[in-house]
Amino acid sequence: MRSLIDINDLSTEEINHLIATANDIIANPDKYAEKCRRKKLATLFYEPSTRTRLSFESAMLELGGSVIGFSEANSSSSAKGESVADTARTVSCFADIIAMRHPKEGAPMVASLAASIPVINAGDGGHNHPTQTLTDLITISREKGRLDNMTVGVCGDLKFGRTVHSLINAMSRYEGIKFVMISPEELTIPDYVMQDVLQKKNIPYTETRSLEEAMPDLDILYMTRVQRERFFNEADYIRLKDSYILTPEKLQNAKKDLAILHPLPRVNEISTAVDADHRACYFKQVLYGKYIRMALIMMLLEVEE
Ligand code: CP
Repeated sequence: MRSLIDINDLSTEEINHLIATANDIIANPDKYAEKCRRKKLATLFYEPSTRTRLSFESAMLELGGSVIGFSEANSSSSAKGESVADTARTVSCFADIIAMRHPKEGAPMVASLAASIPVINAGDGGHNHPTQTLTDLITISREKGRLDNMTVGVCGDLKFGRTVHSLINAMSRYEGIKFVMISPEELTIPDYVMQDVLQKKNIPYTETRSLEEAMPDLDILYMTRVQRERFFNEADYIRLKDSYILTPEKLQNAKKDLAILHPLPRVNEISTAVDADHRACYFKQVLYGKYIRMALIMMLLEVEE
């Protein structure tokens, strides 16, 4: 039995296989409509979510399975003090697979050690969000036709942005990837990502405060939200929240085949005027997320493809 807690739990071959399966699901949805018949997914969400929870739930429903779960901690017995481990053991009696989001780093890992069914980390604090990374990878692969030889700009909150940390980790596995880190001084990428991933693997990167300066070089622009919920000090959040706002004017110097991604939700960092630009991929990204989660559920349940 396998869980997915960190993107490093998957080999590059497995990631490529998941993308290929998701592409096949997109091309032949009927072939997969009964693959998880009689299987149940439990979505245990201790933190708010729109895309990840509903995407997991639609993924299981489209595989012919069913869904149970809770969408806020207060509607579960954790409000009475039940531990994550006891919850995971309990839910193992009712479901075949768990998707868990939790504000505390490491909570899905604790759940996976207690559960007797696979656990998928659907986001743990500022730490990891591996299924968002799979979503980002399939989006880049479909939009660019490759995952190698690209300049990837990551912009916004690079300190607390769990999706950025996992994306850098995953994209670093492919040949010819360069990163441009665009952030305010206070929200730069953590040292452990710099040292353990970029420097260790000798991946070229530059750092800048200016989105406009970086723009002409980019093949991918990955925008992120400055996350109010990660700040201890509201004044710092207010000062930093609008550091970068992508507008049609700022895209004037961008490549014609740039792909703009964002894990969403957005607040103010991409003007809605950008949504009509052919380079805006963030709503397609949401849709691809469902297909890659279908592929992942099948893999972890060891359902024959
Ligand atoms: N991208 C993402 O995790 O969105 P939600 O918080 O809505 O799930």
